Amino acid sequence: QVLVLDFGSQYTHLLNRRIRELAISSRWISGSSPLKTITSINPRVIILSGGPNSVHSKTSPKFPVGFVEYVAANRIFVLGICYGMQLIVHEFGGEVRDGKKKEYGRTEIVLERISRLYALKPIGSKQSVLMSHEDEVVKLPMGFTVVARSRNGLVAAVENSLKRYYGVQYHPETTHSPEGMEMLRHFLFNVCRLTKDKKIKDVLEEQIKVVKNMVQPEDHVICALSGGVDSAVAATLVHMAIGDRLHCIFVDNGLLRYKERDTVMETFERDLHLPVTLFDAKTQFLDKLKGIEDPETKRKIIGREFISIFDEFAQSLEKKLGKKIGFLVQGTMYSDVIESCVESESGRSHCQTIKSHHNVGGLPGNIKFKLIEPLKLLFKDEVRELGKILQVPEAFLKRHPFPGPGLAVRVLGDITKGNALDTLRQVDEIFIRSIKNAGLYDSLSQAFAVFLPIKSVGAQGDQRTHSHVVALRAITTDDGMTADWYNFDHKFLNDVVQKICNSVGSVNRVVLDITPNPPATTEWE
Ligand code: XMP
Repeated sequence: QVLVLDFGSQYTHLLNRRIRELAISSRWISGSSPLKTITSINPRVIILSGGPNSVHSKTSPKFPVGFVEYVAANRIFVLGICYGMQLIVHEFGGEVRDGKKKEYGRTEIVLERISRLYALKPIGSKQSVLMSHEDEVVKLPMGFTVVARSRNGLVAAVENSLKRYYGVQYHPETTHSPEGMEMLRHFLFNVCRLTKDKKIKDVLEEQIKVVKNMVQPEDHVICALSGGVDSAVAATLVHMAIGDRLHCIFVDNGLLRYKERDTVMETFERDLHLPVTLFDAKTQFLDKLKGIEDPETKRKIIGREFISIFDEFAQSLEKKLGKKIGFLVQGTMYSDVIESCVESESGRSHCQTIKSHHNVGGLPGNIKFKLIEPLKLLFKDEVRELGKILQVPEAFLKRHPFPGPGLAVRVLGDITKGNALDTLRQVDEIFIRSIKNAGLYDSLSQAFAVFLPIKSVGAQGDQRTHSHVVALRAITTDDGMTADWYNFDHKFLNDVVQKICNSVGSVNRVVLDITPNPPATTEWE
């Protein structure tokens, strides 16, 4: 129902998420898309995002040719945010200029007149909002009115309800504009008269149809289960669509946590009723990772090994069944797509690859399977909701995420040196068990230990030791994109450190990571 034209704002994905939180379907495409792309989507509302450009630059994105006429003829509502608002003003002949007073950060705005945009609020009411702009609107086009100004006297919101154009200079989609969500809700439901349409049950039905259409009756499909929520939910969904033509594999790559292989296999077979083949590839992975220190190289190697195993698995199935295996199911989610910066819906090409998550960016280009990614447009909480409908056990749905490259990104540097992996497994198990015993597991989004490639001096018993250092990290996150560190109480930390140093002989120092994300990523590599 809503189409976001993305002009490059760092908040566009957040905006998309906010709209979907309101149970309204939305898509985002590049702000420089031609009109025919927009008309093929046929939206009822178009939101013009913020962006780093100035409307005065010759190269900055403008309305596509025929946009105004199309909007008028189809009675579409348009909301411009930041650059989007300036663009509306500019395109209709108003004036935008390089601002004398730049506004960054939290600012207060005051409502100046009765408007449709803020119909629920009286004149004179104030709200705190996040501004981030240099240019400012100084003269409005005919038919537009200023409905709010910032404390600095700058235009903060405009509307032309007759033409159905609205604009805000601030970012209602961020939590630093606490009433922003209420404005968006009011705008979409009351002004644009949209109705809720995107229930997770609908996504399920829609995706089952997609899978059925993609996979012909004679086709067979493989799925690699990682032991995480995403692949389990994706597999259960695909199993519902095509039944036993789905063949799952669980790869023990030697990078799993303490006793993880047994627990995971048990859950798949007993609780999920998914037939799974266990593939022991410990030696294969560890041989390839020997001596490799660079995190991205490690990820790429792991991605490649997984694919070669999937190939092998597929070939053996093809022989056995006499059928072609042309598809691979992946539990890729929306946040993976954004983070890996693969050409996404927005067609963005300017963002940087932070880490190549193996289920997206790390896949080799010549992969011979077609991918089935039924969760690609969902956020983690939505995947969990879908899992509930699919009756994936609660304990499974509540598991903290575990990265595809496993402990390889938690042992810094060469993972095959000494007994790093085993040491990390023991430390991690103590940390997680303590968290569970303290009833904290569900309050955390993720918790884990990291093995550092250094040694430190200690005194254990009467002995001087020169042993390993481990770090503990626990975070909370709402959207999987940013995270805060969790503030454990001191007694808890004290007990955990004691347990670790007393029972893991090769560790004599434990440090706590209290860096938010950003600037640090969640994983250390
Ligand atoms: P970062 O470290 O990028 O992690 O802040 C964000 C979330 O993604 C998980 N993660 C991965 N998941 N393959 C995955 O499937 C990967 O290569 C990978 N790297 C990080 C991480 O655990 C966190 O939940």
